[in-house]
Amino acid sequence: MKQNIRIRNYQRSDREVCRSLWRELTEWHREIYRDPTIGGDKPEEQFDKHLAKLGPSRIWVATINSEVVGLIGLDASSYESEIEPLIVTKAYRNRGIGTKLVEKAILEARKIGASLNVAPVARNMKAIRFFHKAGFKNLGRIEMFIDFRNRKWKPAADLLEFKLNC
Ligand SMILES: CC(C)(COP(=O)(O)OP(=O)(O)OC[C@H]1O[C@@H](n2cnc3c(N)ncnc32)[C@H](O)[C@@H]1OP(=O)(O)O)[C@@H](O)C(=O)NCCC(=O)NCCS
Repeated sequence: MKQNIRIRNYQRSDREVCRSLWRELTEWHREIYRDPTIGGDKPEEQFDKHLAKLGPSRIWVATINSEVVGLIGLDASSYESEIEPLIVTKAYRNRGIGTKLVEKAILEARKIGASLNVAPVARNMKAIRFFHKAGFKNLGRIEMFIDFRNRKWKPAADLLEFKLNC
Protein backbone atom coordinates (compact mmCIF):
# COMPACT_ATOMS: atom_id res chain seq x y z
CA MET A 1 0.00 0.00 0.00
CA LYS A 2 1.37 3.42 -0.91
CA GLN A 3 2.13 5.50 2.15
CA ASN A 4 1.72 9.22 2.02
CA ILE A 5 4.03 10.57 4.74
CA ARG A 6 3.75 14.28 5.36
CA ILE A 7 5.56 16.46 7.89
CA ARG A 8 3.64 19.54 8.95
CA ASN A 9 3.50 22.05 11.79
CA TYR A 10 1.66 21.17 14.95
CA GLN A 11 -1.89 22.48 15.12
CA ARG A 12 -4.28 22.73 18.04
CA SER A 13 -6.37 19.76 16.93
CA ASP A 14 -3.26 17.51 17.28
CA ARG A 15 -3.10 17.98 21.04
CA GLU A 16 -4.72 14.72 22.16
CA VAL A 17 -2.76 12.51 19.78
CA CYS A 18 0.48 14.30 20.73
CA ARG A 19 -0.29 13.77 24.41
CA SER A 20 -0.77 10.10 23.69
CA LEU A 21 2.53 9.97 21.72
CA TRP A 22 4.26 11.53 24.73
CA ARG A 23 2.74 8.83 26.92
CA GLU A 24 4.07 6.20 24.50
CA LEU A 25 7.56 7.71 24.78
CA THR A 26 7.33 7.52 28.58
CA GLU A 27 6.15 3.91 28.37
CA TRP A 28 9.16 3.08 26.24
CA HIS A 29 11.45 4.54 28.92
CA ARG A 30 9.56 2.61 31.60
CA GLU A 31 10.10 -0.56 29.61
CA ILE A 32 13.83 -0.16 29.04
CA TYR A 33 14.46 0.81 32.66
CA ARG A 34 11.86 -1.58 34.07
CA ASP A 35 10.58 1.28 36.18
CA PRO A 36 6.82 1.98 36.04
CA THR A 37 7.23 5.18 38.05
CA ILE A 38 9.09 7.07 35.31
CA GLY A 39 7.09 10.08 34.15
CA GLY A 40 4.65 10.06 37.07
CA ASP A 41 0.89 9.44 36.95
CA LYS A 42 0.07 11.63 33.98
CA PRO A 43 3.08 11.71 31.68
CA GLU A 44 0.99 13.18 28.85
CA GLU A 45 0.79 16.44 30.82
CA GLN A 46 4.48 16.91 30.03
CA PHE A 47 3.45 17.46 26.43
CA ASP A 48 1.42 20.54 27.40
CA LYS A 49 4.34 21.92 29.40
CA HIS A 50 6.70 21.26 26.53
CA LEU A 51 4.35 22.88 24.03
CA ALA A 52 4.21 25.97 26.23
CA LYS A 53 8.02 26.04 26.42
CA LEU A 54 8.79 25.51 22.72
CA GLY A 55 5.75 27.10 21.14
CA PRO A 56 3.67 25.46 18.38
CA SER A 57 5.98 26.66 15.60
CA ARG A 58 8.77 24.42 16.91
CA ILE A 59 6.74 21.23 16.94
CA TRP A 60 6.07 19.13 13.85
CA VAL A 61 3.98 16.05 13.35
CA ALA A 62 4.22 13.25 10.79
CA THR A 63 0.99 12.15 9.18
CA ILE A 64 0.10 9.17 7.07
CA ASN A 65 -3.07 9.77 5.10
CA SER A 66 -3.86 12.61 7.53
CA GLU A 67 -3.44 10.46 10.66
CA VAL A 68 -0.81 11.79 13.10
CA VAL A 69 1.74 9.02 13.74
CA GLY A 70 4.85 10.87 14.94
CA LEU A 71 6.06 13.97 16.69
CA ILE A 72 9.27 16.00 16.92
CA GLY A 73 10.13 19.13 18.88
CA LEU A 74 13.01 21.55 18.50
CA ASP A 75 14.13 23.49 21.54
CA ALA A 76 15.81 26.48 20.00
CA SER A 77 16.08 28.67 23.05
CA SER A 78 19.85 29.04 22.69
CA TYR A 79 22.26 28.94 19.74
CA GLU A 80 22.56 25.19 20.37
CA SER A 81 19.20 23.69 19.46
CA GLU A 82 18.04 20.35 20.79
CA ILE A 83 15.62 17.70 19.56
CA GLU A 84 13.08 16.89 22.27
CA PRO A 85 10.97 14.83 21.92
CA LEU A 86 11.04 12.41 18.98
CA ILE A 87 8.53 9.62 18.86
CA VAL A 88 6.92 7.53 16.13
CA THR A 89 4.03 5.34 17.21
CA LYS A 90 5.00 1.66 17.32
CA ALA A 91 2.83 0.42 14.44
CA TYR A 92 4.41 2.89 12.04
CA ARG A 93 8.11 2.46 12.81
CA ASN A 94 10.72 1.33 10.27
CA ARG A 95 9.05 3.13 7.37
CA GLY A 96 11.27 6.18 7.28
CA ILE A 97 9.00 8.45 9.33
CA GLY A 98 11.53 9.09 12.12
CA THR A 99 14.15 9.95 9.51
CA LYS A 100 11.81 12.44 7.82
CA LEU A 101 11.04 14.10 11.17
CA VAL A 102 14.74 14.40 12.01
CA GLU A 103 15.50 15.80 8.57
CA LYS A 104 12.92 18.52 9.22
CA ALA A 105 14.50 19.35 12.59
CA ILE A 106 17.98 19.48 11.01
CA LEU A 107 16.72 21.83 8.30
CA GLU A 108 15.15 24.17 10.85
CA ALA A 109 18.08 24.01 13.30
CA ARG A 110 20.54 24.88 10.53
CA LYS A 111 18.73 28.22 10.09
CA ILE A 112 19.01 29.01 13.80
CA GLY A 113 22.41 28.29 15.22
CA ALA A 114 25.67 26.52 15.60
CA SER A 115 24.66 22.96 16.33
CA LEU A 116 21.86 20.52 16.88
CA ASN A 117 21.94 18.23 19.91
CA VAL A 118 19.96 15.26 20.99
CA ALA A 119 20.24 13.61 24.39
CA PRO A 120 18.79 10.08 24.42
CA VAL A 121 19.07 8.19 27.70
CA ALA A 122 22.12 5.91 27.71
CA ARG A 123 20.08 2.69 27.66
CA ASN A 124 18.11 3.72 24.56
CA MET A 125 20.52 2.03 22.17
CA LYS A 126 17.93 1.87 19.37
CA ALA A 127 17.60 5.64 19.42
CA ILE A 128 21.36 6.17 19.73
CA ARG A 129 21.93 4.00 16.64
CA PHE A 130 19.11 5.79 14.84
CA PHE A 131 20.56 9.25 15.55
CA HIS A 132 24.07 8.15 14.63
CA LYS A 133 22.78 6.96 11.27
CA ALA A 134 20.88 10.23 10.86
CA GLY A 135 24.12 12.23 11.06
CA PHE A 136 24.81 12.80 14.75
CA LYS A 137 28.46 11.75 14.68
CA ASN A 138 29.90 13.95 17.44
CA LEU A 139 29.74 13.22 21.16
CA GLY A 140 29.07 16.28 23.31
CA ARG A 141 28.77 16.13 27.04
CA ILE A 142 28.43 12.99 29.15
CA GLU A 143 26.00 13.10 32.08
CA MET A 144 26.87 10.92 35.09
CA PHE A 145 24.86 10.59 38.27
CA ILE A 146 24.49 8.83 41.63
CA ASP A 147 21.24 6.88 42.01
CA PHE A 148 19.89 7.24 45.57
CA ARG A 149 17.08 4.80 44.80
CA ASN A 150 19.44 1.91 44.04
CA ARG A 151 17.71 0.90 40.85
CA LYS A 152 19.23 -1.95 38.83
CA TRP A 153 21.90 -0.83 36.39
CA LYS A 154 23.74 -2.84 33.80
CA PRO A 155 27.25 -2.38 32.46
CA ALA A 156 27.48 -0.01 29.55
CA ALA A 157 30.15 -0.24 26.89
CA ASP A 158 33.54 0.96 28.03
CA LEU A 159 33.71 4.65 27.45
CA LEU A 160 37.14 6.27 27.40
CA GLU A 161 39.07 4.50 30.15
CA PHE A 162 36.13 4.16 32.55
CA LYS A 163 33.54 1.47 33.03
CA LEU A 164 30.04 2.87 33.39
CA ASN A 165 26.57 1.43 33.88
CA CYS A 166 23.48 2.35 31.93
C1 LIG B 1 13.73 6.23 17.22
C2 LIG B 1 12.44 6.29 16.39
C3 LIG B 1 11.87 7.69 16.44
C4 LIG B 1 12.78 5.95 14.93
O1 LIG B 1 11.60 6.11 14.16
P1 LIG B 1 11.32 5.25 12.84
O2 LIG B 1 10.17 5.88 12.15
O3 LIG B 1 11.22 3.81 13.16
O4 LIG B 1 12.67 5.54 12.03
P2 LIG B 1 12.99 5.13 10.51
O5 LIG B 1 11.92 4.25 9.96
O6 LIG B 1 13.32 6.37 9.76
O7 LIG B 1 14.34 4.31 10.69
C5 LIG B 1 14.37 3.12 11.46
C6 LIG B 1 14.84 1.94 10.63
O8 LIG B 1 13.92 1.68 9.59
C7 LIG B 1 14.60 1.60 8.35
N1 LIG B 1 13.70 2.07 7.29
C8 LIG B 1 13.48 3.32 6.89
N2 LIG B 1 12.57 3.36 5.88
C9 LIG B 1 12.21 2.10 5.68
C10 LIG B 1 11.30 1.49 4.79
N3 LIG B 1 10.58 2.20 3.93
N4 LIG B 1 11.15 0.15 4.86
C11 LIG B 1 11.87 -0.58 5.74
N5 LIG B 1 12.75 -0.04 6.62
C12 LIG B 1 12.92 1.27 6.58
C13 LIG B 1 15.79 2.51 8.54
O9 LIG B 1 16.83 2.23 7.62
C14 LIG B 1 16.17 2.16 9.95
O10 LIG B 1 16.84 0.91 9.94
P3 LIG B 1 18.02 0.53 10.94
O11 LIG B 1 17.41 0.60 12.32
O12 LIG B 1 18.42 -0.82 10.53
O13 LIG B 1 19.05 1.57 10.72
C15 LIG B 1 11.40 5.24 16.89
O14 LIG B 1 12.01 3.98 16.96
C16 LIG B 1 10.79 5.58 18.23
O15 LIG B 1 9.83 6.33 18.30
N6 LIG B 1 11.36 5.00 19.32
C17 LIG B 1 10.84 5.16 20.66
C18 LIG B 1 11.01 6.57 21.17
C19 LIG B 1 12.46 7.00 21.23
O16 LIG B 1 13.33 6.26 21.61
N7 LIG B 1 12.68 8.29 20.85
C20 LIG B 1 13.98 8.89 20.90
C21 LIG B 1 14.15 9.51 22.26
S1 LIG B 1 15.58 10.53 22.32
